[in-house]
Amino acid sequence: MRIVEIIQKKRDKKELTKEEIAFFVKGYTAGEIPDYQASALLMACFLNGLSEEETSCLTMEMMNSGDVLSLPFSHTVDKHSTGGVGDGVSLAIAPIVAAAGGKVAMMSGRGLGHTGGTLDKLDSIEGYDSALSVERFFETIGRVGCSIIGQTERLAPADKKLYALRDATGTVECKELITASILSKKLAEGVESLVLDVKTGSGAFMKKKEDAIELAEMMVKICKRMGRKVVAFVTDMDRPLGNKVGNLLEVQEAIEALQGRAPEDYMELTVRLSEEMLVLCGVATREQAKARVMEVIENGSALRTFREMAAMQGGNAELIDHPECFSKAKYNRVVYARESGYISRINAEGYGVAALLLGAGRNKKEDKIIPEAGIEILKKTGDCVEKGQPIAILYANNVTLFEESERRLHSSVEYSSKRVEKSPLFLAKID
Ligand code: URA
Repeated sequence: MRIVEIIQKKRDKKELTKEEIAFFVKGYTAGEIPDYQASALLMACFLNGLSEEETSCLTMEMMNSGDVLSLPFSHTVDKHSTGGVGDGVSLAIAPIVAAAGGKVAMMSGRGLGHTGGTLDKLDSIEGYDSALSVERFFETIGRVGCSIIGQTERLAPADKKLYALRDATGTVECKELITASILSKKLAEGVESLVLDVKTGSGAFMKKKEDAIELAEMMVKICKRMGRKVVAFVTDMDRPLGNKVGNLLEVQEAIEALQGRAPEDYMELTVRLSEEMLVLCGVATREQAKARVMEVIENGSALRTFREMAAMQGGNAELIDHPECFSKAKYNRVVYARESGYISRINAEGYGVAALLLGAGRNKKEDKIIPEAGIEILKKTGDCVEKGQPIAILYANNVTLFEESERRLHSSVEYSSKRVEKSPLFLAKID
């Protein structure tokens, strides 16, 4: 088989065989196919698309490029979000589902650009080890019911190489390649069931709802072909979720959710996704699921599970009991409304970038995150404000960062003299 013929075939809009896809994935992962040929093939895929069969083969080959875990438990489940701003709900969902009887095996990533990453958030808990060995990962799930760690080096190595190449060749925004990338990692974790949260809007990488729905449909189809139980939701990421954007701030917000007192939109997403995970992994019926979620929040067992998970992974669990003891940013700056009226829109991407500028995110992989940096949102879409009233607080360890961040934040807020309806958070469900 010759890679140049495979490139020509895709260039000419023909369907690749399973063997050709396997040849490409194996060859590129082993370093036998150079970047320039892999780039040409990725661009041909980007421009001409892949069939369901091709996407399924690509996912399977990428998944099998490394270890595929075999979890020694039943009722295993995970959740994946395509990334957003202020979306730290995984931190609350994993212990809720575990406390309610599910086994949550969660391998998460780091944030890039304006979107946050679960691992960066967990790093705010002093001592938390997100690089457990597979044995410790299993042990933690067995004892606590959940564990959140980073992807191991041996998990879908083909995706690691291909994603870096896509990032550098303008081929990230391709639904089939995104599907294979996300699912190859999630399926290699070995979970029986998966709940997907596909974000859409300014803060997401699928800006248009129709694109997000198409991506969700594609991921559901491929997951089913791989024999897994799956449900996907398309949710709104045109506005930031919850009231906090930033790593440590989002850990505090997750603790508030586990105490049942996080903001309404944050609780809605947390409860609904947790419910779905319980139903999917078979520990509750649809009728029981919501009550079960509310029960473990109200009786404190979900918060205790989070504490136990953090402790078993080396984290300072005292901080979970006393979130007010987390370290604080050296400086803060209050941002005031520039107009009177209703806030008609908060652009999620804008707030994500404003937080990044304070040190909460990275532009390049090597950039260092400041855990305490971020934004506390005091006014959200639909709220009525007077000019000069506080709408947000910025946190940073360096005062010189405030100016640009504040400018970015102001340009992300729109005002209206008319009352605005809050738009729904859940936009579609695909199963
Ligand atoms: N996240 C991934 O893991 N892969 C993609 O292709 C896009 C987002």
